[in-house]
This record gives sequence, structure tokens and C-alpha cells, in this order.
Amino acid sequence: MMIRRIASSHAERRIADEPAQLEPWLQRMVDFVVAETTPITLPYVPEITLRLAPESVPLWTKIENELGPGPGPPYWAFAWVGGLALARYLIDHPALVAGHRVLDFASGSGLTAIAAAKAGAAHVLATDIDPLAVVALSLNADANGAAIQASAIDVLAEGAFDPASVDVVLAGDAFYDPTFAPRALAFLERCRVAGCDVLVGDPGRASLPVDRLKRISVQAVPVTLGFQYVAAAADDELHAASVWRWVE
Ligand SMILES: C[S@@+](CC[C@H](N)C(=O)[O-])C[C@H]1O[C@@H](n2cnc3c(N)ncnc32)[C@H](O)[C@@H]1O
Repeated sequence: MMIRRIASSHAERRIADEPAQLEPWLQRMVDFVVAETTPITLPYVPEITLRLAPESVPLWTKIENELGPGPGPPYWAFAWVGGLALARYLIDHPALVAGHRVLDFASGSGLTAIAAAKAGAAHVLATDIDPLAVVALSLNADANGAAIQASAIDVLAEGAFDPASVDVVLAGDAFYDPTFAPRALAFLERCRVAGCDVLVGDPGRASLPVDRLKRISVQAVPVTLGFQYVAAAADDELHAASVWRWVE
């Protein structure tokens, strides 16, 4: 099970591949994610089922009460509109990733990482700085039969990640926060300079560096709450989102 690999890398020691139980801290996180989310097959990307929650704030409060402070809101519990557009596009255009080494940056639920794996990527590394996201995306990857290496390393940190180790970099809704956006931009630019094909899914947020991007697809994506598809009995609304390729 993929979770064992997280335990291994996170604790920075090798855990035998053999049955061994998860370490208690990790088992608590797995149990929490399973208890607080529902598997939902995405209407817009029915090839993928994700564990989603109905609302952010009550879940965030529960995380802080039961697991302690984390890096921010539980963005991993929702499928974001930019990620949905990018996932749909990858599954419909598998040549973009088939046979390639892929990094899914700011992976959240693992939505675009799973799409890349389903489209035939040779290797998928999904990173998110939120440890609960790494747990959730690992559970989602397993449930979708997708082989994904999940990691909580911060690829933005100096020397933490070599862009030459991948061919394609995916960023689904990575420009959601004006303070995070410039750091994401600098990282994705570095990946492009290293020769990576950088693909971004985004609804056209103010921080999106459109001068560096070429729009390759525009889509009308069903969402249920703001920019997200959530696990709540709400009517779908269509929201425009595009897939962009880094050109500079
Ligand atoms: C808006 S969510 C998008 C999730 C997913 N890509 C999607 O489209 O559904 C943005 C994600 O970025 C993650 N994030 C924030 N800072 C990060 C960093 N320095 N490195 C990697 N991920 C980061 C957050 O934890 C969050 O899961």
C-alpha cells in the first residue's frame, strides 16, 4: 500500500515492505481522512474517484482540534476547478505525459497526478507541503489503481528538487494565493528553463502569469462550491477554466 511508502520517506527510515503496521501517528492521519471524507466519482472526470469533504472550515477546525495545527486549510479535500480542467485534458490527450516522468506540484487530493498516471506516465511524483494531503492523495491513488510516489518535501526550498529529474510538471490551481503565487511562478520558471513541459490548470486568477503562458484549452467545468467540486448535495454550476502551457 502506498501509505507505507510515505511512512518510510517521512520518517526517513526504511520500513520493511512486510506487513508491519503503520506507525501510530500515520494511522491516525489515515483514519482521520477516511472518517471525514466520502469517495466521490467526479462527474467531469468520471475516470477518477476522490475522497472529498463537504466544506472547508468545519473540517479545518476538526483537524486543528484532533491533529493539531497544520500548514493551512484542507485544500486536499476538494477537487479544484483548474485541476479538474487539467485532469480532463491529460486523460483526453495522453501523449502529453505518456512514457514521461511527471511532477505534480501542489497536488492536494492527487487529482492531476492520478490523471497523469492513468494517461500512461512512466513515473509520477506528487508533492504537497500539507502532510494530510500526502495521506489523502496516497489513499486516492490506491483507490484509483494509480502508481504515484507521494511526498511532503517542499520542492520550493533551495536545493530540494532537481527539475532535470522530470520531463513534465503539472500545476492544478497553484495560483490561488497571491503570496504563494510568486514562489510558484519562480519554481515553474526554473522547471521550464530546465526543459520541462510545464502545464497549468487555472480559472484565470489574478496572480496567473498569463504573459508566460499559452492557453491550449478552455473548458466549462462543473463545480459545486466556489472554485471547487465538493462532497455536498449541491447543484453543479459551470465555471470556466483553462489549461495553459509555459512558453517563456
Ligand atoms: C488550490 S489547492 C490545488 C490542489 C490540486 N492541485 C487541485 O487542483 O485540486 C493548492 C495546493 O497547494 C498546496 N501547497 C501550498 N504550498 C505548497 C508548496 N510550497 N509546495 C507544494 N504544495 C503547496 C496546498 O497545500 C494545496 O493542497
